[in-house]
Amino acid sequence: MLWLPALIIWASVSHSCGSDQQFPSWFKFGAASAAFQVEGAWNVSDKGESKWDRLIHRYPEIIADGSNADVACNSYYLWERDIEIAAELGLQFYRFSISWPRLLPTGFANNISEDGKNYYNNLIDGLLEKGIEPIVTIYHWDMPQMFQGLGGWANPKISDWFAEYARVVYSLYGDRVKYWITINEPLVDCDVYYGQLLAAKQEQFVGPYMCNKNVLLSHAKAYHVYDQEFRPKYKGKVSLANHLVWLKPYSNSTEDQELAEAARQFLTGRYAHAIFSKEGGWPSVVEETVAKASKEQGYQDTRLPPFTQEEIELIRGTYDYFAMNHYTTRLVRKPRSSEEIVRSLFSYVGDLDAVLEIDPSWPVGYSGFTAIYPEGIREQMAWLKQQYGDIEILITENGYSTGGSSFDDDARISYVNDYLEQVILSIEEGVNVTGYTYWTIMDNFEWTDGYNSKFGLYEVDFSAPERTRTPRKSAKYYSELIKKRSL
Ligand code: NOJ
Repeated sequence: MLWLPALIIWASVSHSCGSDQQFPSWFKFGAASAAFQVEGAWNVSDKGESKWDRLIHRYPEIIADGSNADVACNSYYLWERDIEIAAELGLQFYRFSISWPRLLPTGFANNISEDGKNYYNNLIDGLLEKGIEPIVTIYHWDMPQMFQGLGGWANPKISDWFAEYARVVYSLYGDRVKYWITINEPLVDCDVYYGQLLAAKQEQFVGPYMCNKNVLLSHAKAYHVYDQEFRPKYKGKVSLANHLVWLKPYSNSTEDQELAEAARQFLTGRYAHAIFSKEGGWPSVVEETVAKASKEQGYQDTRLPPFTQEEIELIRGTYDYFAMNHYTTRLVRKPRSSEEIVRSLFSYVGDLDAVLEIDPSWPVGYSGFTAIYPEGIREQMAWLKQQYGDIEILITENGYSTGGSSFDDDARISYVNDYLEQVILSIEEGVNVTGYTYWTIMDNFEWTDGYNSKFGLYEVDFSAPERTRTPRKSAKYYSELIKKRSL
């Protein structure tokens, strides 16, 4: 019996020492941004208003530094500099998003903005000229206010409007863009930021589960548009980017392990099971939990909108890879007796009675949600493989935030290094992970944190009209890493 633990110790030691910290030749490195966070020019030319424009202009107090994204990094005008910094970093790809109301000012597909169209053409062509692959997110939270006024993601018509928007995007840029993300982090758009912020302001509250269902239908319809009309000529790949917080049981007890698994199904499964699992539809634990909670809350029926068999078939299998945004980990435990669960921003797990907390030994970045537990990225990817099979995983976001001006950002360098070390181990363990995206190429408008929270490899001077971009130490580290392809 003695030999087994010895073997395990030997295996884990030889694993960490034996690894040459080298990335395979096919592994790609990139960095990301999103339209609302960098572009500015919120009402320039014929651009329409987005739901975030409206929200911030109406309630400036919800933004920590009282700022807004009217100018942000001014990338609408400074796109050539953005391409230059992507090239300075030696990025193999640059992930950015298209602003729906910039391209389609009313949201509807029958009115395409010439200026909007040219802006993204210039950006894509400029990147390709430098040998940088564009990876494009079709929707990163800036829904046309026009549609938000009609209920946003809760309106069943939204999936057709979204698919029509996606068709315009593929037809304009599909000849040059080969990796697509339909929707970024629907969990955060539905459950966390926007829904909760509006609820807090007593405005229209978009029921998260209805939003959840319509997002899945929207993604699926947009996927089929690509699959049927564009894939034959363009041969690209389509996915949606999920926000994955790795959830670990608080203890080894069976109870905590089962609860952690249920929490994963709420946080990740709610947006992934319908697409990536063999059977499709909602995870059963989500169905059971919401039905029970709805009853206890006095509803006649469950608040989880069911899928028809036709909808299950429509959504199932609508992926070519898994786009994973991952920053952090939480411990999951049952609420202690008389402990009240606060179902507010970042509770993530809907009606599940579970408390998510940070292990006190984990350091936390400036942005309070980013507790650092590098092993989490490896554990998360192993879980994805076990749940959904041997799917290609592209890490579409991972990053660290500081507060204030800091060019010597050693903490960011350690964060990237430690997470990438785990990615190498994942590759050695046979996980099909093909690339890494640092969030973000430069400081930008970090939603309710405004400009206080800085995730950038480049620091942006928001007090200068030129919005000067200057590399941090981490920019040098990342460009060297990309060059030598090892840690
Ligand atoms: C996820 C989001 O996609 C992005 O918009 C945000 O800025 C980063 N995480 C950091 O919070």
